[in-house]
Amino acid sequence: MTAPYRVFVTRALPGNGFAQLLEDPAFDLDVWPEDFPPPRDELLARVAGVDGLVCLITDTIDGQVLDAAGSQLRVVSQMAVGVDNVDVAACAERGIPVGNTPGVLTDTTADMAWALILASARRVVEAAEYVKDGEWKTWTPTQIAGIDVHGATLGIIGFGAIGQAIARRAQGFGMRVLCWNRSPRPKEAAAVGAEQSEFDLVLSQSDFVCVSIALTDDTRDLIDARAFELMKPGAILVNTARGPIVDEDALAAALRDGQIGGAGLDVTAVEPLSMDSPLLTMDNVVVLPHIGSASMATRGKMADMAVANLRAGLAGQPLPNSVGS
Ligand code: GLV
Repeated sequence: MTAPYRVFVTRALPGNGFAQLLEDPAFDLDVWPEDFPPPRDELLARVAGVDGLVCLITDTIDGQVLDAAGSQLRVVSQMAVGVDNVDVAACAERGIPVGNTPGVLTDTTADMAWALILASARRVVEAAEYVKDGEWKTWTPTQIAGIDVHGATLGIIGFGAIGQAIARRAQGFGMRVLCWNRSPRPKEAAAVGAEQSEFDLVLSQSDFVCVSIALTDDTRDLIDARAFELMKPGAILVNTARGPIVDEDALAAALRDGQIGGAGLDVTAVEPLSMDSPLLTMDNVVVLPHIGSASMATRGKMADMAVANLRAGLAGQPLPNSVGS
């Protein structure tokens, strides 16, 4: 019998695919047992000699990790659609395919963008805390009054699968939907009743601006002080993509100065967000701990895809889903 494939998995995964992998004699798995990611020195030590690596967005997979693994490494399989934590170019230089998990999380993440749109507009978190804090004494005409979502204009920055799914949901709310994508997507826009527009116009005309674009060198700080100046007073920013796409200092300043009306963030520039962040002192900001794709069903599907990518990579076959190849 040939030696089992050695694989380092940076956290135990949900789903049947992973359970089967654990039982499969063809694999020798080393699974990091903690909820926190392996510290850098552990990561570098544990990848030495592995044939496959399964990782999460919390793991920085760069040239040093790949070199520590060695030239036998055949596949890096990430359980996420975004791979900004993986140096994809360094993998490509070494001929290592990088797997990701698109598609299965599209609707779950779009649902979360909508949860943030509604929570921010209708002050849901603030209102729930108001009740828990015993502040609910009566009913008044303007008590915790927010802004309407139905009939408003929704702007979507980045019009990939998730952006389109966010737009599709807006139809039920009778919204005008504007979208911007680096490479224009007029057909996709028309298919979901959206209008493709210029970046500045999406910002200046929307009541809600949803960020749904991959983090790259080009999109880092895409939503900066200038963008906030363009936005309508009272507009709400929602980010379910990656934190560094938004300049967080500029966001805090825009909120503090009343330049925009609120923010719903599933992601922050540094995760977890520091408890010292001014964003946490603002009633009109909802911050979630990066749970856009976090339904049990979707996380199970993502894990299964990551396992399928791992298996294919180890077998020398094209990955069912890969990036940068
Ligand atoms: C999660 O953020 C992902 O990229 O899948």
